[in-house]
Amino acid sequence: MSVHGRNRPGFHHDDDDDDDDDWGDLAGDRDDLIDVPGGVRLQKVLAAAGVGSRRHCEELIGAGRVEVDGQTVRRFGARVDPEHQIIRVDGKRIPARQDIVYLAFNKPPKVLTAMSDDRGRRTIADFLGDRAERLFHVGRLDYDTEGLMLLTNDGELAHRLAHPSFEVAKTYVADVPGPVSRDLGRRLATGVELEDGVAIADRFRVLEQSGSRALVEVTLHEGRKHIVRRMLAEVGHPVSRLVRITVGPIKLGGLRPGDTRDLTTAEIGDLYAAVGL
Ligand code: URA
Repeated sequence: MSVHGRNRPGFHHDDDDDDDDDWGDLAGDRDDLIDVPGGVRLQKVLAAAGVGSRRHCEELIGAGRVEVDGQTVRRFGARVDPEHQIIRVDGKRIPARQDIVYLAFNKPPKVLTAMSDDRGRRTIADFLGDRAERLFHVGRLDYDTEGLMLLTNDGELAHRLAHPSFEVAKTYVADVPGPVSRDLGRRLATGVELEDGVAIADRFRVLEQSGSRALVEVTLHEGRKHIVRRMLAEVGHPVSRLVRITVGPIKLGGLRPGDTRDLTTAEIGDLYAAVGL
């Protein structure tokens, strides 16, 4: 069990990182949580997960906002096992394990969603450098499709995010021939008949129309192959460029093509929540 302070982005950190702050019973109430022998102090686990400075984490614990395995813990000194126990702040699970990584990647076009290719095409592995972790890509993007991909070595999360039963919504921006008729959104929401069954959009809007081109945004929660391209082609708007801009609660934002970034602690909590973890 080790916690060495990955310092996930999105939160402020102080340098109060020593391990011998023995608050024990000095603060907070008693609880029934059994200290894990050899465990790590709760506030240290929270700080290392990117929740905030050690002091801020102690305040959260004192305020009763931290749960371990479903039990509110108000003791600063509680010793927990970050690898096996589920820790939540304000009900949102925190990424306590330091060996698990969660990345957002902006896949450029002409890159294969795979770790290698026997035909020598560029793959997402070419953008990950020599990361030691064995990363899974969450779902796939077509060779020509760009945008947000999530990469993680959290197998359970990756599995759930990719599984249709969890219905994680994804949003795409497509460049299509215009003009787009006023009832296109209704048609997509009603369902488009494709050769492998009906495909339904959860949301649709036109972002821009100029001359003979239109930029449209489509949200759906299924992941059949080429689904957005096939839907839009079926309704008379073949896609010339397709970019995925969200996966569940995660946004592509300003991440540049080919770049990766660590998800923030809050984003990881939102992902867990999206798939019931
Ligand atoms: N729909 C597509 O057509 N392509 C993708 O890569 C993802 C969704």
